[in-house]
Amino acid sequence: MAPLTYLLLLVTMLVSNNFHCLGTMASPDGERVNPAIMKSPSGSTQKVVNVQYYGAKGDADSDSMAFDKAWKKACSSSTPTVLLIPKNKRYLLKPVNFRGPCKSKVSFTIMGTLEASRNQEDWDGMISRHWILFSNIDNLTVRGGGTINGNGKIWWRGSCKMDASTPCISAPTALSFNSCKNLRVENLKVMDSPRMHISLEKCTGVDASHLTIIAPTESPNTDGIHITHSRT
Ligand SMILES: *[C@@H]1O[C@H](CO)[C@@H](O)[C@H](O)[C@H]1NC(C)=O
Repeated sequence: MAPLTYLLLLVTMLVSNNFHCLGTMASPDGERVNPAIMKSPSGSTQKVVNVQYYGAKGDADSDSMAFDKAWKKACSSSTPTVLLIPKNKRYLLKPVNFRGPCKSKVSFTIMGTLEASRNQEDWDGMISRHWILFSNIDNLTVRGGGTINGNGKIWWRGSCKMDASTPCISAPTALSFNSCKNLRVENLKVMDSPRMHISLEKCTGVDASHLTIIAPTESPNTDGIHITHSRT
């Protein structure tokens, strides 16, 4: 069981009106052009690493590998880098851990959709109960107006909360941040998580805004945002 030391903040969070960045950001569609440079909100240019060019083919194996490669590229860049998940694209991901420390700022820009793999085998050996985990990163921004879909249905069905005769298994959190410093999470939709939607643990300098969290009323344990040992 999850310790109840977490503070559940909000199930749906639509706060503050200070979001102004994305509107001024160039938004390459990633379809035909491979944008190498992107204007950041402050007007400086940033390197762009587009996952589409790292071998993603729309299946969990190739997509997970593409994200892994793209992350390594972005995280090891010595200049601020945008890791771009292009609009109108959908990627299937197994459990992934985006690890720091990185050499410079990374802006993980989700314009398209990330979906959790529906193949139970992809979750075998999942030890840490996370689907998408960002850990040990300074100056990370995750945003983009896109969607993170946890495909929780397969987990909810087997939950002991739905059927007391089935053994309790632990389902993963959709989006987790662990030991991040100067973290911005904004303008994203997180839906249908197997378990809680967003978790912040041991993070400092956190700014989270414009997050929409959606799951069916009857889905078990799909809390919104858990915050533990973290501060703004
Ligand atoms: C993070 O930002 C701080 C403050 O701007 C800077 O001092 C530090 O070097 C940055 N670290 C990385 C990894 O970008």
